[in-house]
Amino acid sequence: MFRLAIFVTTNTIRMKITNSLKSIAVLTSGGDAPGMNACLRAVVRTANHFDISVVGINKGFQGMVENDFRSLTANDVSNIIQRGGTILKTARSAAFMTKEGRERAMNNLIKSNVDALVVIGGDGSFKGALSLSDEYNIPVIGIPGTIDNDLFGTEATIGYDTAINTVVDAVDKIRDTANAHNRLFFVEVMGRDAGFIALRSGIACGAEAVLIPESNTYVEALMGRLESGWDREKTSAIIIVAEGDDSGGAAELAKLVKKRFPQFDTRVSILGHIQRGGAPSAYDRVLASELGSWAVRTLRRGHSGVMVGRQGGKVVETSLKQAVKHNRTINPQLEELVNWLSE
Ligand code: F6P
Repeated sequence: MFRLAIFVTTNTIRMKITNSLKSIAVLTSGGDAPGMNACLRAVVRTANHFDISVVGINKGFQGMVENDFRSLTANDVSNIIQRGGTILKTARSAAFMTKEGRERAMNNLIKSNVDALVVIGGDGSFKGALSLSDEYNIPVIGIPGTIDNDLFGTEATIGYDTAINTVVDAVDKIRDTANAHNRLFFVEVMGRDAGFIALRSGIACGAEAVLIPESNTYVEALMGRLESGWDREKTSAIIIVAEGDDSGGAAELAKLVKKRFPQFDTRVSILGHIQRGGAPSAYDRVLASELGSWAVRTLRRGHSGVMVGRQGGKVVETSLKQAVKHNRTINPQLEELVNWLSE
């Protein structure tokens, strides 16, 4: 394997792979996702298995800028596989976005004597990792940890399954009250500019319609569907709206619909951050364990600049540059399914 030698030039610090992997740093960054702790546990315990020491960086890249590091042993990650959030904390760091901030962060990393960095997070976090590896040549591995599922190169990101289950649980409850009052509910779910959470949870909840940024379901088409539903004396309905949808979100859409159909008793429910919390599902715990462990093995093989993900039941590597390109597409069959099943 390799070890990093540090070359300080006039204004840059370069790191070069020379021999074996002795110590790695790990951080969680961006929006937290259920399963991040399970992933951290897998990174630390796998590293421990190979006699590699682990430095945990608190608060993501912000902690790297602030030199907020601590060593992590196998014991430190006991009893966390079932916990939501992240014991390392997380942040969206403005300081790290600047060249000066990254230089400070890199100086701190060098002082901590690590050979490589593991980043658990979403696309913003991977872009940060890429900048660091481009500018300073440090080996980096990304692990997809975000509820949004918007990364190319993995069939699911850590936290996505739990978030969907949370949405389904909430919408099942909303449906009870929607039915009781004959109401039309607009439920807004997270996902930033992606509609994966909305689409999959919409199917699982039997939603009457799902509006996502990637789709051609225009508001007019929705109006048509509502009209025909009303003609069939449908008494209640659930419309799932992805927060990034062009309609402007659940509240805006509800206003439009109310204007057109004043007879509908409409309500809006924005599920918000409950989608990010809670104990990870069994699926997320297994995925997190697998990917966390694989990240360490990938580094031991001398690979860098890749994200580990799961495709077709196997762990695969995708370049970080590809993973953040956002060219992951929505399955059109699932979109069709929503329409067919709610007719
Ligand atoms: O990326 C995860 C996510 O929860 C998105 O779905 C959402 O748009 C965003 O983070 C919310 O971020 P914050 O918690 O910073 O408001």
